[in-house]
Amino acid sequence: MAEAGSFAEKVKQQADIVRVVGEYIRLRKTGQNFTGLCPFHQEKTPSFAVHPVRQIYHCFGCGAGGDVFKFVMEMDKCAFPEAVRAVAEKCGIPIPRPRERTPEEHRENQARAALVELHREAAAFFARQLREGAEGRVARAYLEERALTEEAMDRFGLGYAPSSGDALLRRLQSRYPEKVLEASGLFSRDSGGRFYDRFRRRIMFPIANDAGKIIAFGGRALGDDHPKYMNSPETPIYSKSSVLYHLDRAKEAIRRNDGVILVEGYMDAIAVARAGIAAVVASCGTSLAEPQIKLLGRFTRRVVVNYDPDTAGQAATERSLALLLEQEFDVRVLALPGGADPDKYLREQGSEAYRNLLAQAPAYLDYLIGRARSMDRSTTAGKLAAVNFLMPYVQRLPSRLLRSEWATRIASELRVDEPVLRESLRRAAAERRGEVKPRPELLALPVSPAERRLMQMLVEAQGFRQKLSGEILAGGLHLGLETEKIFAALAARAAEPLDAAAFASSLDDRDRRMLFEILFEESPEATWEEAESCLAVLRQRGIERQLADLQRQIETSVPPEQLRGLLEERLKLQRQMHAAAPSK
Ligand code: UTP
Ligand code: MN
Repeated sequence: MAEAGSFAEKVKQQADIVRVVGEYIRLRKTGQNFTGLCPFHQEKTPSFAVHPVRQIYHCFGCGAGGDVFKFVMEMDKCAFPEAVRAVAEKCGIPIPRPRERTPEEHRENQARAALVELHREAAAFFARQLREGAEGRVARAYLEERALTEEAMDRFGLGYAPSSGDALLRRLQSRYPEKVLEASGLFSRDSGGRFYDRFRRRIMFPIANDAGKIIAFGGRALGDDHPKYMNSPETPIYSKSSVLYHLDRAKEAIRRNDGVILVEGYMDAIAVARAGIAAVVASCGTSLAEPQIKLLGRFTRRVVVNYDPDTAGQAATERSLALLLEQEFDVRVLALPGGADPDKYLREQGSEAYRNLLAQAPAYLDYLIGRARSMDRSTTAGKLAAVNFLMPYVQRLPSRLLRSEWATRIASELRVDEPVLRESLRRAAAERRGEVKPRPELLALPVSPAERRLMQMLVEAQGFRQKLSGEILAGGLHLGLETEKIFAALAARAAEPLDAAAFASSLDDRDRRMLFEILFEESPEATWEEAESCLAVLRQRGIERQLADLQRQIETSVPPEQLRGLLEERLKLQRQMHAAAPSK
């Protein structure tokens, strides 16, 4: 892990884990620690803790734990070097010039940097086209007709791609090599192999990644041209399925509110944001892809899905719901009345009305039951279809209790009386489908206070860690304890300074959890005197164990000639026990 003298070690010393973790989840100070909802498993009450002094995190529910790098690696699903860089960036620690490992990586990085720069210039170019000239005037008029003010056009960086077919090309071709122009996805080639602008006579929506860098565009036809929307193709810097429109501007609000509204289109996201609800993102395309959900999950697990109420939108809502459920999101559904998408609804009814509906948006299962109730259920086949429509959602619920609750509710709401239907519902409730994550059981810790305290001291009592481990090893005081392996490992490292999180990661899972839970306990400055009293407890325990062994032997059939020896030994141990008894 963080090797001595390495950049990683420097970052670890300077980084503040509370601040870094706080960028991903909401933390509250509770006592000496900070706590919040664990991002690694679904929960309603916080069991996730961050220790500001020890610079570690630990979830008392699922057992996840480690240092700041481990946290970022797990959250961002990245490797150690990326996590180090990310932490450094978040904490404002200057990063030494990245040395790419291979010439190929170097070329790829340069190519990506050039593409990002090209997109920045293209966005500026499109924005200028919207402000200037006759064509720009027509485009502005279109947007104004759609209730967008010039201020809003500026705010969202909207632009216009002229109809000429080579306006952007002329602007950029002298500045970028052909390969970069080609890779940008902003140009196509005609039959003679010449470039021309991919986007012509379109309103341009810049698409940014979550860091706010423009990496693609969506272009809307001015009138009824087809296709209505055209997007950048996949490029080295843009992958449609892992970008959410407006996330870069929404992420702070999403974290703050711990919730987000998910809409389909650019215009919808803009309209909701303009109504004063900043926490909105668009999936841009109909259904949500798994990488987009993972991305969103970094900021919140509570989503209101507000897709168009048309059939495509409904199907997309239901597909997205299924995926969100699998990822254990808490989902509500806002279906606007009158066939309106959010943009249209806000324009016609205003933000007050929208906010009211938003506040009442039903939980997804209520929404789905409503849909099932609207199906024709006059025949048994019709009822079966309605039940079958709901079944897959029930099966995706993570908890069995919830599944059976919902099965009961569905049966009563859909008036399901037929035994066959009840039976299939019951079966659905008993089975869990979809991605099932194993959740380690909570540990019941058979670890005495003395052991706990000694472990804390072995980790951080700088003055006497070494002396203490000497005592433990010499007396074999740890032998036979649940914590034997942890003590042995800690004692073996007592000569050098210890990085608790790195050390813990060398233990097996159960021991790591045990140690972390112990490290999260309140721990005043330790003295040698206290250490000695803890050692005395362990000695005592050791003698008790030996006595119990002896007793078992004595009570079982030992030959008489051995009994005498055993009894003598017992007496000796009993004396030792009195001598070793802690003075208090
Ligand atoms: P909609 O057709 O609902 O668009 O598609 P919209 O946002 O309501 O558009 P306006 O209000 O008519 O301008 C929703 C989203 O699906 C993607 C776009 O991201 C769009 O915003 N889409 C739609 C495409 O990518 N291509 C299309 O041809 C249509
Ligand atoms: Mn629309």
